[in-house]
Amino acid sequence: MEDAIFVGGGGEDYGTKQGLKLEYANRHGLVAGATGTGKTVTLQILAEGFSKAGVPVFLSDVKGDLSGLADAGSAEFKLHEAFMDRAGKIGFDDYRYESFPVTFWDLFGEQGHPIRTTVAEMGPLLLSRLMELTEAQEGILNIAFRLADEEGLPLLDLKDLQALLVWVGENKDDLSLRYGNVSVSSIGAIQRRLLVLENQGGAKLFGEPALELSDIIRTDTDGRGRINILASDKLMGSPRLYATFLLWLLSELFEELPEVGDPDKPRLVFFFDEAHLLFDGAPKALVDKVEQVARLIRSKGVGIYFVTQNPDDIPEDILGQLGNRVQHALRAFTARDRRALRLAAETYRENPRFSTETAIREVGVGEAVTSFLMKKGIPGVVERTLIRPPSSRLGPIEPSLRKTVINASPVAGKYEALKDRRSAYEMLKDRAEKAAAEAEAAEAREEEMETAAREYSAGRRYSGTRVTRSTSRSTRRGDSFGEAMGKMVMKELTGTTGRKIVRGILGGLFRGR
Ligand SMILES: Nc1ncnc2c1ncn2[C@@H]1O[C@H](COP(=O)(O)OP(=O)(O)OP(=O)(O)O)[C@@H](O)[C@H]1O
Ligand SMILES: [Mg+2]
Repeated sequence: MEDAIFVGGGGEDYGTKQGLKLEYANRHGLVAGATGTGKTVTLQILAEGFSKAGVPVFLSDVKGDLSGLADAGSAEFKLHEAFMDRAGKIGFDDYRYESFPVTFWDLFGEQGHPIRTTVAEMGPLLLSRLMELTEAQEGILNIAFRLADEEGLPLLDLKDLQALLVWVGENKDDLSLRYGNVSVSSIGAIQRRLLVLENQGGAKLFGEPALELSDIIRTDTDGRGRINILASDKLMGSPRLYATFLLWLLSELFEELPEVGDPDKPRLVFFFDEAHLLFDGAPKALVDKVEQVARLIRSKGVGIYFVTQNPDDIPEDILGQLGNRVQHALRAFTARDRRALRLAAETYRENPRFSTETAIREVGVGEAVTSFLMKKGIPGVVERTLIRPPSSRLGPIEPSLRKTVINASPVAGKYEALKDRRSAYEMLKDRAEKAAAEAEAAEAREEEMETAAREYSAGRRYSGTRVTRSTSRSTRRGDSFGEAMGKMVMKELTGTTGRKIVRGILGGLFRGR
């Protein structure tokens, strides 16, 4: 198994080692199979293999059971004998239990380090998808982002976006002249969707400190890659939030990482569990972009592995790019199932020893039909592979161990406290307050003038100079206020990530929709 990750044993008696070549691990992959067929354990052993090979991993833990990666397996475990038998059968001679370096993340900040991004980095396209906006509403969101850019208003959290929308509403007549119809009802609709997002926990996702990608691309001093586990059990309650967040992360990786061509091994491997959520009801434009990202991110050294029940859930163009495959058993109850199964089987290189279609139906739990890229990146002949047993613990870890792991992580303390720096919300609030104060002052002056005029005409007790002085003072004050405001905006712009204000998602790809 030189330069490959040991996956299991194939051939007549499961004695022929099957491996995923590190050199081709950035050509993406698929782990599929009906419930209870062994997908999660396959993910676990792949993550273990990558980590040992020095490749950092990012994966989402949908049921909590992948947290077991942080703990070693045990001879006391009820499946110990079964694991040993399995290891023996496939010639896994140096099989032993061990734990892996894990970093836990959690959007809600409960089961891991908080993981955040800013509204600006998420961008209008993904936000629209997140909030399920209509095209018209998305148009308004685009205008709002453009304005924030022009006005130098940093969009960090949902509060900023809310404030910006209010401001857009207040200036809608002006904006309609410049950008076309900005309707109150559309703004209202976006604001309501924003509330929904907030209630789903979206508020936790947005803010600072935002995730630094280098923190998920880490190798430990012993040379093993860190396994980043995103706690997703609670997050799965908001599937849209889950899928959009992972898509955002992919797009960030795509934008931020430099080209590396075809490396000896990936820089990062990204497992996208419950991948069908990404595509459920997704507009074609989005699917096309995911397809493009998948194609282009390869040369940045990132391998994406889609995990799903049925390969049918993945759009064909994307499926065609998944070179490394572990297909666990599929059911064939209905005519539709059988058709899907046949189609799935057709995508493999036949093995003369058996029918792929029958094999996909027949493989047992923890067994799979596999095909990995071989020399020159050609798909290998399909094999019936008994997947190796995990070295780490099967099933979730104790909460106390999770806590220990979180406290000992290299990013402990870095993301825990939310920083609320001055951004659109505060700036617009100040503007509104200053405008109100100005209006009040002007009103007071007017009153003063009226009073003076009245008194002047009534008894000539005041000379006219006072009125004049007061007017000139107010003019001076107006000037200095303008200057101060200008300085303030400049400071905001230079002091913040100005260029990131409307950072398009996926660079040119997602921006020019
Ligand atoms: N490679 C393996 N080695 C040993 N046992 C395995 C292996 N794969 C699966 N098993 C056994 O099968 C059980 C079910 O596997 P797993 O949890 O991976 O299924 P799944 O496809 O993820 O199911 P679900 O869809 O319910 O999440 C495991 O708990 C384990 O007992
Ligand atoms: Mg599972």
